[in-house]
Amino acid sequence: MASQLRFDGRVVLVTGAGGGLGRAYALAFAERGASVVVNDLGGDTKGGGKSSVAADKVVEEIRRKGGKAVANYDSVEAGEKLVKTALDAFGKIDVVINNAGILRDRSFARTSDEDWDLIHRIHLRGSFLVTRAAWEHMKKQNYGRIIMTSSASGIYGNFGQSGYSAAKLGLLGLANTLSIEGKKNNIHCNTIAPTAGSRMTKTVLPDDIIEALKPEYVAPLVLWLCHESCKENGGLFEVGAGWIGKLRWERTLGAVVRKKNQPMTPEAVKANWAKICDFDNTSTPQSIQESSAGIIGVLSKIESEGVSPNHTNHKASTTTSGFAGVIGHNLSSFSSSYTELEAIMYALGVGASVKDPKDLKFIYEGDSDFSCLPTFAVVLAQKSLMSGELANIPGLSINLAKLLHGEQYLELYKPLPRAGKLRCETSVADVIDKGSGLVILLDAYSYFEKELISYNQFSVFIVGSGGFGGKRTSDKAKVALAVPNRPPDAVLTDSTSLNQAALYRLSGDWNPLHIDPNFSSLAGFDKPILHGLCTFGFSARHVLKCFADNDVSRFKAIKVRFAKPVYPGQTLQTEMWKEGNRIHFQTKVQETGDIVISNAYIDLVPTSDTSLKTLSEIGKLQSALVFEEISRRLKDVGHEVVKKVNAVFEWHITRGGNVATKWTIDLKSGSGKVYEGPAKGSADVTIIISDEDFMQVVLGKLDPQKAFFSGRLKAKGNIMLSQKLQMILKDYAKL
Ligand code: NAI
Repeated sequence: MASQLRFDGRVVLVTGAGGGLGRAYALAFAERGASVVVNDLGGDTKGGGKSSVAADKVVEEIRRKGGKAVANYDSVEAGEKLVKTALDAFGKIDVVINNAGILRDRSFARTSDEDWDLIHRIHLRGSFLVTRAAWEHMKKQNYGRIIMTSSASGIYGNFGQSGYSAAKLGLLGLANTLSIEGKKNNIHCNTIAPTAGSRMTKTVLPDDIIEALKPEYVAPLVLWLCHESCKENGGLFEVGAGWIGKLRWERTLGAVVRKKNQPMTPEAVKANWAKICDFDNTSTPQSIQESSAGIIGVLSKIESEGVSPNHTNHKASTTTSGFAGVIGHNLSSFSSSYTELEAIMYALGVGASVKDPKDLKFIYEGDSDFSCLPTFAVVLAQKSLMSGELANIPGLSINLAKLLHGEQYLELYKPLPRAGKLRCETSVADVIDKGSGLVILLDAYSYFEKELISYNQFSVFIVGSGGFGGKRTSDKAKVALAVPNRPPDAVLTDSTSLNQAALYRLSGDWNPLHIDPNFSSLAGFDKPILHGLCTFGFSARHVLKCFADNDVSRFKAIKVRFAKPVYPGQTLQTEMWKEGNRIHFQTKVQETGDIVISNAYIDLVPTSDTSLKTLSEIGKLQSALVFEEISRRLKDVGHEVVKKVNAVFEWHITRGGNVATKWTIDLKSGSGKVYEGPAKGSADVTIIISDEDFMQVVLGKLDPQKAFFSGRLKAKGNIMLSQKLQMILKDYAKL
């Protein structure tokens, strides 16, 4: 058995040891033989007040257990006095634990000079003064162990803690340098970012978590780092709940954006931005020497080569890392503004016409029920595809001339407003190897103001780029479905005009393939072809007309596969099959019988669905869509997930501070169940979160752990199980 790590003969000063973490350290050191100075000013968490009670109590506790301790009641700002207490009582100082701290949480704009200064004085200056007072003694005795207490707020930032974050990360900078200056005298300095229940965290964490995250789960790391046999120096550790992890800096390989004898320009920076930020290939510099050696190296590289080495590096990253860095890559977000003009132009482009009085609502802004066609939402989200940005995804080399629009999925969460501005965020959801080509799935989320209004999945096919041994399918893909094997329930035909493509392109797809005969013949077509999304718009209109009386609020989702081109002037024939609220369809060119859109369907909102009524009564929470999607997805894989998770999660979704609805994800038996309402049996974990934050978590914009620690997400029960939830949200909640 390993021998116990002892501190007999060592003198340890713990600042702020009257409670919380400091107390746990003081008790643990004393229990293992150290003589301890228990320092505490005895004020409140905001830095007000003063009392000797806190320190005295801990000293008493240590002594009662047979340990050695003295109290000190000075503020850490009087660093010398604290060290003097150690020298007076025990004759030396071996270990300093800089732990004392206060909070002054305020949004940045409301942070006063006093808040800022006090936080810096206690955390950063206090640690400096106490450590400096001990430094010379440690140097002389050729031994010292120092701990700085940082915080996840400093490392990652945290709303309302600008001053605290700055001071806390300042401590890391201080420790980095002390670890270098102290090394030759056997003085080690390490930094911890703890998480523990204390009076400080009481304001942000629920009581049962405070209780569970014991300071005793942090203290053993501090003791190890301060033991004479520990060689660690200059390290940074996150620690809490019994877990410890080490952090380090990671740097991209970056890009050289300057050439010999040429000025360096912001344009060159912009052009290389993806590479500058590409974390597929990185280094982890451990020292300033290592860091600057790279930079000096660039100087001589530019001098000798005179050219930018970017492209060679870029290729290397493609071959070595596959598509790992491509998946999840965010394309530039953008906004699409539109008015009735664009909506009408689109409707005319996809064949809405005064021929049918029921179409008037799509092409006349004065109609009392003026509406945007639901499929207009694709046009509003397709800018990334049109801008050529796909060709610039690092790690992916695409010849845009070989790109075909393979499939399209659209889900609309509420009808498009008649005019507005949608912000759209697009990312690469997956890359699939189809042998003859490569399929890239692009997920695009469009927001009207803050509300998610539509989700598009563009599935683009790059001819000839497949066969690289990649996976053949993706669980991220929205799947096209075969039409039923019976005669269609309804058929609608519409002729396209010779000007159809000329008209449709005004909605934003300016590809000359659809208007310029020279261009289309180069691409191998007899004449310019119609846009696939134009045929798509025709077909969707047909389904909406036949099965929803042109009521756009009944439109929920559409999925199509583009099978063959259409020439302007040809007649489109949409064949439709009704299966519940799903309308399967395919579209043919009447003149040739060719299927041009295949395996397609539209999902309609049921007219008399009570659960939807409840939702609209409470103002339609976005989270409901996610729970419904999880439920759908679990149908196929539920058994497996139940095996892995084996827990029941109850959700309280709040709006305006009140619980608006409850949902249960029951993954304890069978293939699991998702339903609205509290858990039918008992829940293992209850999670309380607002509808908005829930969506942010699902969309990967809010880290659940951070939400938890900032109080935006509350959890009760066996919170360790919530870790498993992350897997569910990641894999099954994608809208
Ligand atoms: P705590 O409030 O229980 O303990 C801090 C102690 O420092 C108190 O006893 C207080 O009286 C004392 N103190 C405050 N100002 C002082 C001064 N000027 N001179 C001497 N003593 C003073 O808080 P907790 O949670 O134990 O925090 C300990 C350290 O850990 C703090 O530096 C805090 O910022 C840091 N930390 C704690 C986290 C947690 O989850 N508990 C998270 C990240 C950092």
